Amino acid sequence: MNVVVIGAQWGDEGKGKMVDYLAREAQIIIRYSGGANAGHTIVIGTEQYALHLIPSGILYPDKIVILGAGMVIDPTALFAELEMLKSRGIDTSGRVFISDRAHLVLPRYIEIDKQRDKARKKPIGTTGRGIGITYAMKAERDGIRIADLDWKEKMDELEEEDRKFLAPYVDALKAMAIDLPSFLASHKNAQILFEGAQGTLLDLDLGTYPYVSSGMSCAAGAAIGGCVGPRALDKVLGVFKAYSTRVGNGPFPSEFDPQSEGELERFVRETGREYGVTTGRPRRCGYLDLVALRYACRTNSIDSLIMTHLDVYDTMEEIKACVAYRIGEKVVEDFPASIEALSMAKPILRSFPGWKKSLKSVRTYRELPAQAREYIEFIERYCETPVSIVSVGYEREETIIRTSPWTK
Ligand code: IMP
Repeated sequence: MNVVVIGAQWGDEGKGKMVDYLAREAQIIIRYSGGANAGHTIVIGTEQYALHLIPSGILYPDKIVILGAGMVIDPTALFAELEMLKSRGIDTSGRVFISDRAHLVLPRYIEIDKQRDKARKKPIGTTGRGIGITYAMKAERDGIRIADLDWKEKMDELEEEDRKFLAPYVDALKAMAIDLPSFLASHKNAQILFEGAQGTLLDLDLGTYPYVSSGMSCAAGAAIGGCVGPRALDKVLGVFKAYSTRVGNGPFPSEFDPQSEGELERFVRETGREYGVTTGRPRRCGYLDLVALRYACRTNSIDSLIMTHLDVYDTMEEIKACVAYRIGEKVVEDFPASIEALSMAKPILRSFPGWKKSLKSVRTYRELPAQAREYIEFIERYCETPVSIVSVGYEREETIIRTSPWTK
């Protein structure tokens, strides 16, 4: 069975924890998009791991993890991450593979990425990891892939500084390289988890363009970046937070108003630890945006939702969610493509009573306070999609499963 886990907001939804949790029942975990711009945090007991490139399933000793064809891989970041895992007692040998179709990020691209964003009239606020430039080189057909490391003519065409940079990594990269389609053909009965990075609203096609990343973070990206056809994907799970966050620039209709809701923003940021794992930047915070979440459900054909960070609201008297936008004179319930419209959009909020109780030890849906269930069930009705898992803390066990994702 093939299950896809994607971000249904602007990234940072808690995919790392959920992929780690769901990987328990998978044999293979494939990350299919993005690069070292991602930051997936996993907490196991007193240990915390921040992963950028390697799929979150690596923390189990017996899982195979694969960096898929849709990824852009910075060798320096990859080997630093492998080293970090080794130093913390995680044996990764023989179980980390890279699709030979994945592209490589070169230091030159990182520099151009930083300079170009700085030079923009309205910077995107990229993570400065060379992601956009590497995908642009790929689209220009000038990129360099893992498979090309064996192609003398191509290597000879590279600039001297690129060749020098790659030289110490070539053998180790080649040792991890696989032909993903044939690898999957020989693992036909495996349970495979496709791990998304970033989120739907940062997807190059579906997101708030141009304030997006450059990879395919949508569910369809799992097929392309995972080297399978769309019909091979059995289930799509969309992860979202009980509120919204965004890092970098771009429209965010349900963002807390710094004048009137500054206190609420500080509370959510501190309680939810809303600081970028990759860049350390404070994340912008806001109300749960149901207009955007329903858009994510529709565009990814999400089968069920995974709600995270519900516990952040434990002490709140009242909880609000955005159910429509006011754009000029109009009330809008569909997520607009126009950045101008999104930038003008004011959230129309619906209020829910808080539960004023710690959810940390809750393990079944029935044990949740009625107010928390009311909030969840409203979301289900609005998005016409069930919420199958609720996360109430960072630890693996702090998770409520309503329906196992591994059932068809
Ligand atoms: P890039 O991916 O570095 O080009 O950045 C483009 C935009 O996507 C910026 O606004 C980043 O802050 C955002 N972004 C990229 N990766 C992530 C992520 O993993 N979480 C949240 N935001 C991200």
